[in-house]
Amino acid sequence: MTRSSTLALLASTAASLAHGAAVSLPLSKPAELFRRWNSHLCTCALANVAIPDSVTFQLPLENYRQDVCYSLIIPSTNTPAGQFCWNFNANSDALTLDIKPSTGYQLQGADVSFGLTAATFTSKSYSTNDGGCGLNSATGEVNCIIPWTDISGKTELRDVLSAMCPNGDREGLILYLGIDANLSENGESYVAVPRPCDATNPAYTTCDTSVPYFELAYRCTACPTCQEVTKYCSFGTAFGYKDPTLSKTLDSLSATGCNRWGWYEQVPFASLAGLTGRLLVGAGLNDLSKATDVGSWTAVVAGGKVSVTYQASTGYSLADVHVDVRCSLPTSCAPGRYTYGNTFAAATTTSGFTTSPIVIPCASGNVNLIVHAAVNRVVSVPAAEADGYTCPAM
Ligand SMILES: *[C@@H]1O[C@H](CO)[C@@H](O)[C@H](O)[C@H]1NC(C)=O
Repeated sequence: MTRSSTLALLASTAASLAHGAAVSLPLSKPAELFRRWNSHLCTCALANVAIPDSVTFQLPLENYRQDVCYSLIIPSTNTPAGQFCWNFNANSDALTLDIKPSTGYQLQGADVSFGLTAATFTSKSYSTNDGGCGLNSATGEVNCIIPWTDISGKTELRDVLSAMCPNGDREGLILYLGIDANLSENGESYVAVPRPCDATNPAYTTCDTSVPYFELAYRCTACPTCQEVTKYCSFGTAFGYKDPTLSKTLDSLSATGCNRWGWYEQVPFASLAGLTGRLLVGAGLNDLSKATDVGSWTAVVAGGKVSVTYQASTGYSLADVHVDVRCSLPTSCAPGRYTYGNTFAAATTTSGFTTSPIVIPCASGNVNLIVHAAVNRVVSVPAAEADGYTCPAM
């Protein structure tokens, strides 16, 4: 269904709802059609927190008619001389007012005052005279920014949002605004103001420039529940470690690739069954104080063979595992040359794994065991950021 045909259908559905017909709304793509949030704000951290809609504004003085622009009138002659429009779209988390002159008029400046009640609508002011509003000489328009922090009187984002949306996922506050636009036309100066109409008049024909403030209501909508995607980020190489007695450093061996940190366990055959230790990452120079403990390993012996069970701690997973089992000293410290290896695809990376049984080539004396793994960090990424996600440096 195209966007416009969906909109047409919704319009006709809305019309039939107005006549009391009970139908369900066919919202095939609600997120696209009805995204009303200030999308830069709705991160996973703000899931289910109500924030002001970008453009869902109503005019309380006009029976809560919905609009985002309003005329500016020169009171003495009741002549339209411009308009102003507003939104909450600005990345600055502010009410943005854009004031435009009508053809033939030039904006000279503008003053906006603001408050949360009719009595206090001048409690804060913004003007082209003091930098609170800016006159763009290229477009001839005035832009005023009223930060949410000013509106709410709060500074922390969550406090600001809860003050801006005190009713949660419903109507927000009513803003009272005093607006003067100073214009010129053919050398004459004018002050134009909004012309709030009287909601008690059903036709809205009686509009009264003597109302000194303009009222603006807005709606808040809760940010959507956060969808997260799991990503695996390469964290590092882990070696099994048991204790200072059984664990010998790889760099004490003279075989290939042993000029590195890591350990092999030199264990009497009879002690191998049930032997368990830690999986350590990043113990450069075999310095245990630098290592990150990412899980455990256990040797299970049966029928002259040993299986090694790996268990990664929460937040880690195994990208590949390699085990070397020999009765003589290891002939290589390069994992690719161990007696056992298994690599997991990114999608099947696993937190727990048991190798198939590996033959122990002796039934007495010492067994030399290397337990190795490449370890991932498991990261939850908001779905919106998952495409092209780059793992942080670890
Ligand atoms: C607009 O005009 C009024 C009345 O003349 C004046 O008080 C005010 O300072 C002017 N504002 C700006 C921004 O020039």
